[in-house]
Amino acid sequence: MMKSISFQNSHIIVYLIIFISCCGIYVSCDPNVSTATSAFKCLPDQSTALLEFKQEFSLQKPNFSYYYYHCFMYSNPFYDDSILPHSYPKMKFWKEGKDCCTWDGVACDMKTGQVVGLDLSYSWLQGPLRSNSSLFKLHQLQKVILPYNNFSFCHIPSEFGQLSRLTYLILSYSMFSGEVPSEISYLTNLLYLGLSSFKSYDDTSFLYLKRVDFTRFIRNMTNLRGLYLDQVNLSSSIPESLTNLSSLTFLQLSGCDLYGKFPEKIFQLPKLELIIVPCNHLLTGFLPQFHNLSSLTGLNLDMMNFSGKLPNSIGLLEYLKEFAIRLCNFMGPLPSSIWNLSNLNYLELSQNNFNSPDLPSTLGNLAKLVDLSLHSAQFSGEVPSSLGNLTQLKYFDISYNNLSFTKLNTISELPKFQTLVLGSCNLREFPSFLKTQDQLENLDLSSNRIEGQIPKWFWGIAKKKLEILDLSHNKFQGSLDSPPLLTSFFDISENKKTYLRVLDISKNQFSGTIPQWLGNFGSSLEILNLQGNNFHGNLPQMFRNGSMLNLKKLDLSDNQFQGKVPPFLITCRKLQVLNLGHNQISDTFPFWLQSMPELQVLVLRWNKFYGPIWNPHKFRGFESLRIMDLSFNNFSGRLPSEYFTNWVGMIQAPCGNKKTLIYMEDRYPFTYERASTIVTNKGVEMELDRILKTLTSIDLSNNRFDGEIPSSIDNLQALVVLNLSSNSFTGSIPPYLGNMSELESLDLSKNKLSGRIPQQLANLTFLEYLNLSQNQLTGPIPQGKQLNTFSSSSFAGNPGLCGSPLSRYCGNVDSPVVHHDKEVESEDGFTWKPVAVGYGFGIVVGFVIGHVILSQRRSNWFWRSFVGKFIYAAC
Ligand SMILES: *[C@@H]1O[C@H](CO)[C@@H](O)[C@H](O)[C@H]1NC(C)=O
Ligand SMILES: *[C@@H]1O[C@H](CO)[C@@H](O)[C@H](O)[C@H]1NC(C)=O
Ligand SMILES: *[C@@H]1O[C@H](CO)[C@@H](O)[C@H](O)[C@H]1NC(C)=O
Ligand SMILES: *[C@@H]1O[C@H](CO)[C@@H](O)[C@H](O)[C@H]1NC(C)=O
Ligand SMILES: *[C@@H]1O[C@H](CO)[C@@H](O)[C@H](O)[C@H]1NC(C)=O
Ligand SMILES: *[C@@H]1O[C@H](CO)[C@@H](O)[C@H](O)[C@H]1NC(C)=O
Ligand SMILES: *[C@@H]1O[C@H](CO)[C@@H](O)[C@H](O)[C@H]1NC(C)=O
Repeated sequence: MMKSISFQNSHIIVYLIIFISCCGIYVSCDPNVSTATSAFKCLPDQSTALLEFKQEFSLQKPNFSYYYYHCFMYSNPFYDDSILPHSYPKMKFWKEGKDCCTWDGVACDMKTGQVVGLDLSYSWLQGPLRSNSSLFKLHQLQKVILPYNNFSFCHIPSEFGQLSRLTYLILSYSMFSGEVPSEISYLTNLLYLGLSSFKSYDDTSFLYLKRVDFTRFIRNMTNLRGLYLDQVNLSSSIPESLTNLSSLTFLQLSGCDLYGKFPEKIFQLPKLELIIVPCNHLLTGFLPQFHNLSSLTGLNLDMMNFSGKLPNSIGLLEYLKEFAIRLCNFMGPLPSSIWNLSNLNYLELSQNNFNSPDLPSTLGNLAKLVDLSLHSAQFSGEVPSSLGNLTQLKYFDISYNNLSFTKLNTISELPKFQTLVLGSCNLREFPSFLKTQDQLENLDLSSNRIEGQIPKWFWGIAKKKLEILDLSHNKFQGSLDSPPLLTSFFDISENKKTYLRVLDISKNQFSGTIPQWLGNFGSSLEILNLQGNNFHGNLPQMFRNGSMLNLKKLDLSDNQFQGKVPPFLITCRKLQVLNLGHNQISDTFPFWLQSMPELQVLVLRWNKFYGPIWNPHKFRGFESLRIMDLSFNNFSGRLPSEYFTNWVGMIQAPCGNKKTLIYMEDRYPFTYERASTIVTNKGVEMELDRILKTLTSIDLSNNRFDGEIPSSIDNLQALVVLNLSSNSFTGSIPPYLGNMSELESLDLSKNKLSGRIPQQLANLTFLEYLNLSQNQLTGPIPQGKQLNTFSSSSFAGNPGLCGSPLSRYCGNVDSPVVHHDKEVESEDGFTWKPVAVGYGFGIVVGFVIGHVILSQRRSNWFWRSFVGKFIYAAC
């Protein structure tokens, strides 16, 4: 029977077509879809079911900013920021008494009056979609299109498996969780299946396949044209049967935990237009020879284990618009045919092992390019002037190449870049071609060798649109407070809106005082990083009342600042990171910092702070603090036993799983990348590119604290690093330290602690570093578990201690016998025995991986993630 489907409301059709075409589902003008008169009224039972369905939800605009994509997806058909703001609650207009076939988002079979299609994409549905939902009373449904709603992380009801007529089932990004029901595999008529999902913050997938494997799941869906399972944990290899799907047009499997070998035959599927499978690190594969019948328009293999050479036949993919292979293992020369792909608008070749010669002038053939990333593509020589042909180019990342830009300075017509990434490009001069770049929003010139002053004309460019300026790691000199700058910024201060959100001039040789005009950036500025320069003078007064309302990160460390912490900082209510370390600030503890609700990192190390850090009238704990480093100051006094109550941020591990990398930032990942807060962990000073959410650390070392270690410290269940070394703490080691199960590093050395070492410390299974040396501890060293892995140097300098690993034997448990034998020198800490570190790998491995990956990817994802305004966490 011929069905005619009607979506009555014309703007729904528009939406559907937008939706459908952005899905790459090109089915416009289906003759069966008509906007015919409503001669065929919908059946009463259908109408009732729909109204019941409406009752199951509240209608609220969803906020997706809390969730994020695991990996970057340039062409993400089911996410469109531009549609979302225009979304509206379609069901609100469903009213009893009107033909339901005319309702927004409802399509009927015009012959029978049965509801056959439901398109409620972006329609504000909120609440669980239950298995008894009235949706499942609509047995004739062929299309169920529900992406971008909020089903409150309920499971996908297995009842979908009973809607056997379904050809479209699109549930993407609608907040489902749990196992994908195997019953969906009964839907053998499916043409389009979309279950793509966000990821949770602890990096696990919300959705996963379990009872059936991927192969069985899709085995009977032989008509599939579009398969969208991004970020659903499939944890399997790619079924060979996919290569039998002769109608397959769109394949999206990014971040699905796939492994094994990518079947080469997939590339040969005649209808295939999109292969978007990035972020499956374990998936290996090669690119085959292509032929000129291919309809591929998009190929995204970012962050996969693909290797080999790019075939020269890639030049035959004449329809290709997007080609992305970032962070794969491709090698060899880039085939010259790639510069023939004149339809490309997105080309991402970063971070492979190409041995590319000069960047050819045929680059100019790619005149439609909007986005070009050649980060670490190992090009050298001159940037060809044909770059001027790429008039559409907005995003250009050429960082980490050995190129010269002199030709560019002579071209009159360069593309107007929005994002320009020239980090680590061996630049020695400020590029003068920037003079005409008045559309720049993001500029990265970091890690070059640019000397001297920032040219005056640049500030004229900067004030137009610039949001992110990264000049870090160069040799810039001079003062920021010079008259030309003041003139440039004069009109900003008077009447113009500024855009600057990130200013990073860290690790240069800037000097002088901090200019007042920085305060004129006022509420636009979110990150200010002046670390590692020669600024001096009192801490800037630019934080005058009410300015810098959006400041999230302030890093003034490694300068020569003096004076006190400016109290106006308290008006920066969004401050998350404050790093004043390595200056000469002389002040008492800024108690008012305790009232800053979002402060997560506080670093005051190496200054001249003095006095108590506790005051009975000003004490309220720290709500969000995760890292506190007060070391190398003159803080003094006792900490009362209740000191560590109310430190909410350190009480619970964020997502319970410390082995996954989680970062503090939510929406804009770059935010903390440059935080560069130095954290001492396991005796190693680490400059963290980003601060891991899982790292919680308290360092009070090298001060003059005395009294007992506050008993409330056992509240800090999430604490990973504790350093109280080089103070005058007295009393015994609190046995409840043994309850702090996340602790990996405990340094209590150089204090006046006495009594026995509590046996409970042996419970700390993650403990990797322990130093109790140079105290007045007595009695036998407890044995067993983790404690056996430490060397004598962890216990040295306690004349009353005995037992392994010290060479002093405990004759009688209560009166240790001191043996003066040849091994006494081990107390100095240099007789290491092989240490079997049984546990506690989590964070270390995490750090290493995090660091390596992040520093490799740095500028690429830094910018990209910002530019794309999506949420990205390291895979
Ligand atoms: C569906 O089930 C939920 C609980 O699972 C229940 O509260 C609700 O009343 C049921 N709805 C209908 C229409 O039966
Ligand atoms: C996917 O599932 C596998 C097996 O259950 C699990 O080991 C893995 O951690 C999961 N990955 C993600 C990202 O959720
Ligand atoms: C592909 O289809 C052919 C012919 O229908 C069939 O013999 C073969 O088993 C299928 N392969 C897979 C992996 O399903
Ligand atoms: C690029 O395309 C032109 C015209 O189609 C062709 O003559 C040339 O051989 C191609 N170059 C490469 C390197 O494939
Ligand atoms: C960078 O390029 C210059 C000339 O363009 C060359 O002299 C130099 O050896 C190159 N450096 C590297 C590391 O390839
Ligand atoms: C604790 O702090 C001291 C400096 O005060 C430092 O020497 C030591 O390495 C730190 N311990 C750990 C484990 O980081
Ligand atoms: C423990 O601390 C002391 C004094 O700070 C130091 O000399 C020793 O090397 C440390 N031991 C270990 C294992 O780090």
